[in-house]
Amino acid sequence: MRTQVAIIGGGPSGLLLSQLLHLRGISSVVLERKTKDYVLGRIRAGVLEQGLVRLMEEANVAGRMHREGFVHDGTLVAYGDEMFHVDFKAHTGSGVMLYGQTELTRDLYEAREKAGGELIFNVEDVEIAGANTDCPQVHYRVGDRIHQLNCDFVAGCDGFHGVSRRTIPTDQKREYEKVYPFGWLGILSETPPVNDELIYSNSERGFALCSMRNANLSRYYIQCSLSDRPEDWTDHAFWDELKRRIPREQAEAIVMGPSIEKSIAPLRSFVCEPMRWGRLFLCGDAAHIVPPTGAKGLNTAASDVQYLYTGLRRFYEDGDMEGLDSYSAKALARVWKAERFSWWFSSLMHRYPDQSMFDHKMQIAELEFLRSSDAAQKAMAENYVGLPY
Ligand code: FAD
Ligand code: DHB
Repeated sequence: MRTQVAIIGGGPSGLLLSQLLHLRGISSVVLERKTKDYVLGRIRAGVLEQGLVRLMEEANVAGRMHREGFVHDGTLVAYGDEMFHVDFKAHTGSGVMLYGQTELTRDLYEAREKAGGELIFNVEDVEIAGANTDCPQVHYRVGDRIHQLNCDFVAGCDGFHGVSRRTIPTDQKREYEKVYPFGWLGILSETPPVNDELIYSNSERGFALCSMRNANLSRYYIQCSLSDRPEDWTDHAFWDELKRRIPREQAEAIVMGPSIEKSIAPLRSFVCEPMRWGRLFLCGDAAHIVPPTGAKGLNTAASDVQYLYTGLRRFYEDGDMEGLDSYSAKALARVWKAERFSWWFSSLMHRYPDQSMFDHKMQIAELEFLRSSDAAQKAMAENYVGLPY
């Protein structure tokens, strides 16, 4: 089989790239290791920057997002029983869109399927060959049949544990990593959210986040130990802990109910440089990971997709390699800024196992500075709504 762009990974990066290319007449095949139901069963991001909203519009898949998503013009930041508002709209002129990654992925699958897009599920043993030549190939197996996909370019959209980054020889890449000494325990519950906007809370017992998916679907997270397992936490224990970590007034207002999903995510900062090797381009979590505080993961994946899509268009429409040649440098320049913001916000909001009282006082002083300073709030708002592409 032959295609112009072989896309490894049918998560949001791979699907969005495939849909955008399709609308410009550029063919692609998406190879996904899992089933569609499995991909749609993963509960992940919920906050979309304007850049991603615009890309969804350009991909002709924004209808349901605009009907069902919620625009948030700011967020609340709490510490102990104190709480203040950061107004994104006032500081930057824009807000963010609350719309689940699951729904965005569902919309993209639907659009690809409607257009007869080539999506292959349950692929195993994916191998990329000849990435540093003009005719790369992707080998893979479905059941007991081995296949070969010939292509012009390979887009490695296969997440942190995928095969694409590993294909780049060790002496051709450099990896930077920070692993945080805690995780996030998240639940989804069919209850009305405690507040119209998100609440990020620094408490003496650890971080908590009150988020949502819609008017009757809440998403809550608490910082947990890396050794915890979701089954160690009963719903009762989760609600009890969450309530102890947010200001009293909000704790009293929380509507509790059974969790319909419960999972733990470790926190990591990671960047692989460069994001290209020959005709293989890494995109999204395949190249970089941020800790979830500040909601930058999916949004950074989206800016990669935008740069790669633009580079591929220039190649196919004008025969110009410049966009592809500058892809890695452009993407990384934005990635590092998102890494910085996520690292800063994580450091400000969590309890570290080795944290001294001095370190805690520094967090509180910084939160009080953020509360009182227009300039500090503007800097936070600019990063939160998303730096320009
Ligand atoms: P993925 O979603 O990981 O998709 C990669 C796909 O490739 C997967 O479907 C996988 O099955 C497939 N694959 C892997 N290996 C292979 C292989 N060898 N062959 C074929 N296919 C393969 N980000 C935000 O922006 N905002 C948020 O609010 C936010 N909240 C988050 C909350 C949590 C709890 C977590 C865990 C993450 C959150 N993120 C958030 C991060 C966001 O979910 C990721 O950045 C996003 O999923 C990246 O998309 P991706 O397509 O690059 O990778
Ligand atoms: C969500 C996740 C985040 O990491 C974040 O910063 C805000 C919201 C969420 O899943 O709703």
